[in-house]
Amino acid sequence: MHFSVLIASALAALQACRAEIVESFHDLPSTHFDFIIIGGGTAGNVVANRLTENPKTKVLVLEAGGSPDGDLNTIVPLFCLRATPNTSIDWNYTTVPQAGYNNRAVHYPRGRVLGGSSSVNFLAYTRGTADDWDRYARVSGDYGWSWDHMQKYFLRNERWVEPADHHATTGQFDPTVHGFTGVNSVSLAGFHTPLEDRFITAANQSQPNSKYAFQLDHNSGQQLGISYVQSTIKDGERSSSATSYLAPQYANRKNLYVLLHAQVSRVLNSNKNKNSRPSFDTVEFTDGVGGPLHRMQAKKEIILSAGSVDSPHILLNSGIGDSGALEDVGVEAVHHLPSVGRNLSDHPIVTSFWLVNAKDTDTFDLMLRNETVGKEAFELWQTNRTGPLVDTVFNTVAFVRVPPDADVFKKFPDQDPSPGPNTAHIELVPMPGHLFAPFPDTGHYVTISAGLLQPTARGTISLRSNNPFDAPLIDPNYLSNDFDVALMREGIKIAREVLTLPAFDGYIISPLTNSTTDDEIDEYVRDSALTFFHPVATCAMSPQNAKYGVVDPDLRLKGADGIRVVDASVLPFTPAGHTQAPVYAVAERASDIIKCHWNI
Ligand SMILES: Cc1cc2nc3c(=O)[nH]c(=O)nc-3n(C[C@H](O)[C@H](O)[C@H](O)COP(=O)(O)OP(=O)(O)OC[C@H]3O[C@@H](n4cnc5c(N)ncnc54)[C@H](O)[C@@H]3O)c2cc1C
Ligand SMILES: *[C@@H]1O[C@H](CO)[C@@H](O)[C@H](O)[C@H]1NC(C)=O
Ligand SMILES: *[C@@H]1O[C@H](CO)[C@@H](O)[C@H](O)[C@H]1NC(C)=O
Ligand SMILES: *[C@@H]1O[C@H](CO)[C@@H](O)[C@H](O)[C@H]1NC(C)=O
Ligand SMILES: *[C@@H]1O[C@H](CO)[C@@H](O)[C@H](O)[C@H]1NC(C)=O
Ligand SMILES: *[C@@H]1O[C@H](CO)[C@@H](O)[C@H](O)[C@H]1NC(C)=O
Ligand SMILES: *[C@@H]1O[C@H](CO)[C@@H](O)[C@H](O)[C@H]1NC(C)=O
Ligand SMILES: *[C@@H]1O[C@H](CO)[C@@H](O)[C@H](O)[C@H]1NC(C)=O
Repeated sequence: MHFSVLIASALAALQACRAEIVESFHDLPSTHFDFIIIGGGTAGNVVANRLTENPKTKVLVLEAGGSPDGDLNTIVPLFCLRATPNTSIDWNYTTVPQAGYNNRAVHYPRGRVLGGSSSVNFLAYTRGTADDWDRYARVSGDYGWSWDHMQKYFLRNERWVEPADHHATTGQFDPTVHGFTGVNSVSLAGFHTPLEDRFITAANQSQPNSKYAFQLDHNSGQQLGISYVQSTIKDGERSSSATSYLAPQYANRKNLYVLLHAQVSRVLNSNKNKNSRPSFDTVEFTDGVGGPLHRMQAKKEIILSAGSVDSPHILLNSGIGDSGALEDVGVEAVHHLPSVGRNLSDHPIVTSFWLVNAKDTDTFDLMLRNETVGKEAFELWQTNRTGPLVDTVFNTVAFVRVPPDADVFKKFPDQDPSPGPNTAHIELVPMPGHLFAPFPDTGHYVTISAGLLQPTARGTISLRSNNPFDAPLIDPNYLSNDFDVALMREGIKIAREVLTLPAFDGYIISPLTNSTTDDEIDEYVRDSALTFFHPVATCAMSPQNAKYGVVDPDLRLKGADGIRVVDASVLPFTPAGHTQAPVYAVAERASDIIKCHWNI
């Protein structure tokens, strides 16, 4: 995109760092805190905020990245397209070569900045379905994780606000299921596109029981059909856990400290008797990359919130994991917990492009390929937060179940990995333009990404070496079985089918790829699939006495004291949708559990 020239001029206008967010170890007031939170990301900042509501509770957040303040890639919603990969606010991970992806290694972005992935993600806000949460309750043995019980936590997170363009939103969402007094802002899209009308018309013209029927609100527990997208945007700017849960009125609390550029290497066992239950109370970290290692003690608990890649990475570095595998790479085993890093689940995604009949102003193509037009769009955003940059990449979404008579279910009868009948197998993300480089020199396009929401493959996070600062090995194991391949193929077919509805008459000129047979489609998938960015289950919760799993339903590390995991990694299955809203809700409930446990 051609926006880079403008960044410097806009930097000065944005707010400076806040008092209790510090950059040096020596700026911390003491070496003792009640709680030390590892990772100031999506979940970590929620816990930091909630625990410091009690002024007597002292909390330290250790965050490897810096401040997002002034970085337009974290502020302008559509600049999510360039916040990652391979930027100063990304961990720059790549997967190991994926056999299911024709041996390609793919980028695996994760936010490395205050706010974590909520500062760099694509902003979509989806809770998952009632089926998803009722499965979490079932497999963890804790009714507290059920849809009904989690409602209050969704509402605590959410502050529903008007869209940037203040258009009338009646009939575009269901206000009765939303929170209007929470912390993190959520809104409908604030820049109208003609593509959005085509999808809503397609929905309006569909029978109520059709795949593409209109769904008033995908965050109501139901999701199936075509609906308007909800996203973490307020007044045309991104709402992240850094801008919301660490807004100045919270970050300025005297009992909350945030240390930036602090990368945690390990947590340490303070129980010197190796044969008794380990107890973790000490955190080891750098102050600036390559600096000396510091140590800090938590009087009550360590909260591990480094995300689905780095939480298991830190546990493994600390000798918590499968003892044999740890010793193979030269890490001393401290606590044998074989499930750490072992059940990685992530959504594969495949993107297709079509050349369409459209005017210059109908799609984002001109803005992406022409510097002058890009600059005009940025100026609009800068002047009064209007124009195409106020939104993420899609205004409508389709959550679709693959019908029982589809090829995949003929070949694999009785194999439906979805958690219930109201939950999608496939998510379609329609975008107005060829939004991914290389941008074509001419023409107007529609892009549709199809995400596989119910993968059965499980992968791993493991250690590359015994150096805690080496990136971990990330193996999502995408499309490693015939069922996942067959279900993904249905997703491509659904993306094509939706464009044959009458609402798209005269719109589509030609597809950019012409795979027709199943084998050709599979080859396209294997050559082009990427991540939908939703890894979970690497520190999964399981029932109290289960022989597998990493944390109990109260998120405490199994068989040890002093440490709890609170982030996406504890979810045992991917939700049917994007993961930030589930992570926010998990962190809100975890905060309640912690406060209750310590009576604070
Ligand atoms: C490019 C991208 C697009 C996405 N799009 C969407 C979307 O549109 N909608 C949606 O709902 N979800 C989306 N997601 C997923 C969603 O953002 C994540 O699931 C969610 O934010 C994860 O929250 P978390 O708290 O588990 O981890 P994070 O938010 O990633 O937080 C982890 C934090 O820990 C820090 N950390 C890691 N290791 C260490 C260490 N050793 N020491 C100190 N700090 C450390 C990190 O820097 C980070 O700040 C996207 C993700 C990405 C990367
Ligand atoms: C990442 O960016 C750097 C500098 O901008 C560049 O040299 C490098 O080739 C990029 N790497 C990848 C994998 O894109
Ligand atoms: C990621 O790559 C970018 C661009 O090359 C670089 O600026 C940044 O420091 C890298 N991040 C990490 C954590 O290595
Ligand atoms: C869809 O139907 C609703 C309800 O009848 C109507 O208000 C809306 O204008 C229609 N939208 C489109 C794009 O056809
Ligand atoms: C992975 O998760 C499944 C389902 O919860 C469970 O049965 C299995 O034991 C887990 N495997 C590991 C290695 O934790
Ligand atoms: C970019 O768009 C402007 C304004 O529409 C136009 O005048 C100019 O010729 C375009 N530039 C290129 C390289 O296409
Ligand atoms: C925003 O600014 C643009 C350019 O100055 C102007 O045309 C437009 O009317 C303004 N919109 C609003 C809602 O103020
Ligand atoms: C796909 O087919 C259409 C017509 O059927 C054609 O116009 C187009 O060029 C083809 N695209 C490719 C990449 O072969």
